[in-house]
Amino acid sequence: MPSLTQARDAFSQGKPLWSRAIATPTIEFGPTPLTVLTGKIPADLRGSLYRNGAGQLGRAGQTVDHWFDGDGGILAVHFSEAGATGLYRYVQTQGFQAETAANRYLYPGYGKPAAGPFWQRLGTQPKNAANTSVLALPNKLLALWEAGNPHALDPETLDTIGLDDLGTLQARQPYSAHPKREPSTGDLYNFGVVLGRRNYIQLYRSDATGQIRQQGQIPLPRTTLVHDFVLAGPYLVFLVPPVVLSLWPILLQNKGFSDAMGWQPRHGTQIIVVDRHSLKEVSRFETEPWFQWHFGNGYQATDGAVVIDYVRYNNFDTNQWLKEFVTGYPKTPVSVRLFQLMLDATSGKVLSNQPRLDLECEFPTVAPQDVGQRPGDLFFCYKSQPKNEEYFDGIGCLHSDGGRVSQLTFAKGCYPSEPVYVPSDEGSGWILTLVFDGNEDQSTFQILPADNLDAGPVCVLELPEIIPFGFHGTWASK
Ligand SMILES: [Fe+2]
Repeated sequence: MPSLTQARDAFSQGKPLWSRAIATPTIEFGPTPLTVLTGKIPADLRGSLYRNGAGQLGRAGQTVDHWFDGDGGILAVHFSEAGATGLYRYVQTQGFQAETAANRYLYPGYGKPAAGPFWQRLGTQPKNAANTSVLALPNKLLALWEAGNPHALDPETLDTIGLDDLGTLQARQPYSAHPKREPSTGDLYNFGVVLGRRNYIQLYRSDATGQIRQQGQIPLPRTTLVHDFVLAGPYLVFLVPPVVLSLWPILLQNKGFSDAMGWQPRHGTQIIVVDRHSLKEVSRFETEPWFQWHFGNGYQATDGAVVIDYVRYNNFDTNQWLKEFVTGYPKTPVSVRLFQLMLDATSGKVLSNQPRLDLECEFPTVAPQDVGQRPGDLFFCYKSQPKNEEYFDGIGCLHSDGGRVSQLTFAKGCYPSEPVYVPSDEGSGWILTLVFDGNEDQSTFQILPADNLDAGPVCVLELPEIIPFGFHGTWASK
């Protein structure tokens, strides 16, 4: 039996150092006081950081076919007067438990169809991987996955409580992984994509506790993929990409979702603007083709224009790159830039659509108080060297005051995760990020000053196990 280090050496041979983070399944750990390696935990940092992501990409010699199919694992870091305590737990979904008991993969997913003979594959439901993001509610933490119900967890211990219907969701009803909280009311907006005889977006408005209070529906122009949306003043805006999903291979389980989707740029991007109070459509119009996973932020400018920051890909090749990610050496070229789109929402017109930054970036985030309200400082991960096989090695900020850019490129072989903003009582707030050091096979948790990223971390905490990069996180104040 090779040691974990030997397994990492074998997997990462000839590959970038980040690949060592995904070489072996993440090892769970219970509440562990985190050692401060450098600096000091800021006195006003009190609360919990949660991150979700694929904790394991393989099981008993099998590897998942796509990064999106890794089993969800949650990292929590609780900050109190006593210091920082970390823990890591897999979400105990029904699928995870059944596959753990069988010691093999049993279910289809985003990247893989069901196994077995035709008659057994028909109608097989994909596994809810519970791996994409987290939503902190007053008494529970939700692990989100866009094609099904969320899973509720104990926010302190990360024990899985079970599927959560937020008061009204039906079994397997989709609740996406990118809810938006309107800062003045605390209301939550979210959606789920429903495909089949009718293709539509189910809209949800929840109160601050997460209970769904209002729903709406808007038709989709095609069977497609909508991962995120944007709250912009009085509107919710959806950008529907020219990606078309063939439903027959999914129904027959000949292909996973990932391989059943095709890039059809002739359709262009469809922009759908929804009134967030009535959840009714305001306008719908077409523009040029592109693909985006994520939005930075949206707001309504004083002249009434709707302004949206998003991370734009030229096409859907990003999906292939994310599939190849599990090999530790993705080869597919991907071109991505931060863009700003300006709309006249009522007349349904694109006013402008321009790149904002000449950097290959992803995971754009803003301070919670800026969501849907104002430009705000925009934080993101970037690649200092845009090589296909490399992962993000920097955290940047595009400041709202005149477009100044701050950048922190980590040491060679060190890779940060999505920056999560934490408001501060005194200064401009903190950026929390998980960093994997491929030279030392070590994950650290780093606290950066939001207004001065270039200065580097004010505190670095040691984590007891390697935590892979994951997807999205959130902060819950005490
Ligand atoms: Fe996402």
